[in-house]
Formats: sequence, structure tokens, C-alpha cells
Amino acid sequence: MKETILVTGGAGFIGSHTAVELLDSGYSVVIVDNFSNSKPEVLDKIRQITGKDFKFYEEDLLNLDGISKIFDENKIDAVIHFAGLKAVGESVEKPVEYYHNNITGSLMLIKAMKKHGCKKIVFSSSATVYGVNNPVPFVEDMPTSATNPYGYTKVMIEQILRDVYVSDNEWSVSLLRYFNPIGAHKSGLIGEDPNGIPNNLLPYIGKVAVGQLPQLNVFGDDYVTPDGTGVRDYIHVCDLASGHLCALKYVLEHNGVEAVNLGTGKGSSVFDVLHSFEKACGKELPYEIKPRRAGDIATCYANTDKAKRLFGWEAKYFLDEMTADGWNFIKNNF
Ligand code: WQD
Repeated sequence: MKETILVTGGAGFIGSHTAVELLDSGYSVVIVDNFSNSKPEVLDKIRQITGKDFKFYEEDLLNLDGISKIFDENKIDAVIHFAGLKAVGESVEKPVEYYHNNITGSLMLIKAMKKHGCKKIVFSSSATVYGVNNPVPFVEDMPTSATNPYGYTKVMIEQILRDVYVSDNEWSVSLLRYFNPIGAHKSGLIGEDPNGIPNNLLPYIGKVAVGQLPQLNVFGDDYVTPDGTGVRDYIHVCDLASGHLCALKYVLEHNGVEAVNLGTGKGSSVFDVLHSFEKACGKELPYEIKPRRAGDIATCYANTDKAKRLFGWEAKYFLDEMTADGWNFIKNNF
């Protein structure tokens, strides 16, 4: 059996897909989740997909004793840290909740890791740390900033982990900067299933397609982009999961801190995504142009050279496969 990996937030969208990849690759997996933005039934879906079992703890990272217990009871070789609140708009309304949950939660996790001699971590960061002043395509050595509390929690946790490495060079840290994860596992058993009205584009379109929402509101068509709508680097969640395994292998074999983009390096507009999804679901979907959303930038996509050089990883799915796999999950689960 390979190493034992603790996956925080492992019942969530990206965490569950990564847990599947880890189990399929022979790792022993321990999942901790508080179900604040995920559902218990995902755990059995992971077992169903992989045919493998894993230990699970329903626990909040803010409970240091509870997190320490996981390390007392399991020899954890590395941590993949997904757990955190991630809604940009909500973070503006509830900054204290976001800073406490994401920052303090991460500090408790790091404390428990230090106490048990576990010094290898892959952190779920985000392209949002590139802020609004960097030119595209974004490169890992660009200065980081944010335009909202959610983004600042990512900037700050990256800094905390860099400072932990400075204090103890035995640490190995991978800061994975995701672009826009969409799609779902080919089985259609797991996917992005947000509670309430979705903030993100793909699940919102999905709820329009199944008739739960009347139309897509397109936030601005006056950006300096090919069709005027916002351009993003959409990446299949399964490509993202395989990128985590490459990062895990890297941290198991190296010390140091590496920020790495996980994107396709290609930009797609809101209309590109909408029309691709219409092809997948076989029907035209209603939309209306609305004013720009506060905090949005026109264009965001990755320079993918470092992931290729360091991990030998690159995304392999294109937009139409992402929307087809997304629809396959949505039509059976929304
Ligand atoms: C994509 C595009 C919108 C919804 C955020 C976070 C990022 C990551 C992914 C966590 C934009 C447009 C959207 C809608 C629309 N989250 N849009 N109508 O804002 O690029 O990134 O989610 O890690 O950190 O910042 O993603 O899906 O919200 O928006 O027109 O109902 O779709 O304007 O151009 P975003 P998104």
C-alpha cells in the first residue's frame, strides 16, 4: 500500500474527485469534512466508483483536538487541503466568517501536522490570487493580491505556508492555483452540487437546463473580449484531480514551496460555455444580458509551462467534454 493521505474537504467537488484518483492509484485515504458545502452521500459514491474503502471523520478544522485525533489514529504521510469556504460574493458579506474559517482552520491543520511530524502539504489555492493588475496569461511568479476576502484568504494561506517552510526547511508545499474547475466524473455519480443558488457559471446553467432557474443572467457583454463576455480558463475537474496526484508525488519526493497553475492555458467566453452546454443537453437555453458583476475581470487564463516542466502534467479534456460530463451529472442529480 502506498502512503496515507489526509484529504480535508474530501466530500466536496474537487476533493471527492481527487479522493477517487488517490484510491484508484493505490493510496490509503483518510477524509475529513464538516459537510458545510458538501453531502454525506458523496462518500459512498466514492466507494462505489473505486470499489475501495477509506476512513472518514466528520470534523471541523477549527477543532484542534478533533484534527489532532486524526493524526493520533492514522500515520498521515501528506495532506491535500481543500476544506474552506469559497463563495466570492458571500465572502464580501461575511468577511469575519471567511477569515476565521479559512485562515484559522488552516492554522489548526498546520499545528496538528507539526505536532505529528507531517510536513508535506498540497494546498487548494486559486487563480483569484492573481488579482486584477497582472497581464494574462498568468505566471506563477507574478505578484499576488485579491479583490475580496475569499481571495485574500488564499493569498494569506499561501504566505503562511511559505513562512512555515522558512521556519523549517523539511517542509514540502505545493500551492495549486486552480482556474475554473467544471465538469464531473465520467460515471455521473459525483460532480459540482452547490447548496442553494449557484454562484458559478456552469452549475447555474445546469439549473436553467433542468428548469430549476428561468434563465442565465450573463454578467456583461461589453468587455474587451471576442464576444464581449467574460473569458475564463475552464478545466475539467478530472484533469484537476490528476494534477493533484502529480503535485502529491512531487511533495513526497522534494522539500520546498512551489506555486503551480492548474489550467488549460485556453480562454473560453460565457457564450462559448453556454453554447457548448446547449450542444450537450440538446436544447437552447434562455439568457439575458445583465450589468457586469462587481469584482469580475474581463479575461483570465493560465500559463501552463510550470506544471508541464515540474510535474509532467497538462490538461487533456476540452470544453465540449467538460460540459458533456457536467450535463451527465446534472441531469441525474439536480
Ligand atoms: C465565470 C464567468 C462571470 C455566473 C470564481 C472564483 C474562483 C473560483 C471559480 C473557487 C465570469 C460569468 C457567472 C453567472 C455569468 N472559485 N457568469 N453568469 O468568477 O471566474 O471564479 O469561481 O476557487 O476563485 O473567483 O467563476 O463561474 O463565477 O464566473 O455571466 O450566473 O461567468 O461574469 O465571466 P469566476 P464564475
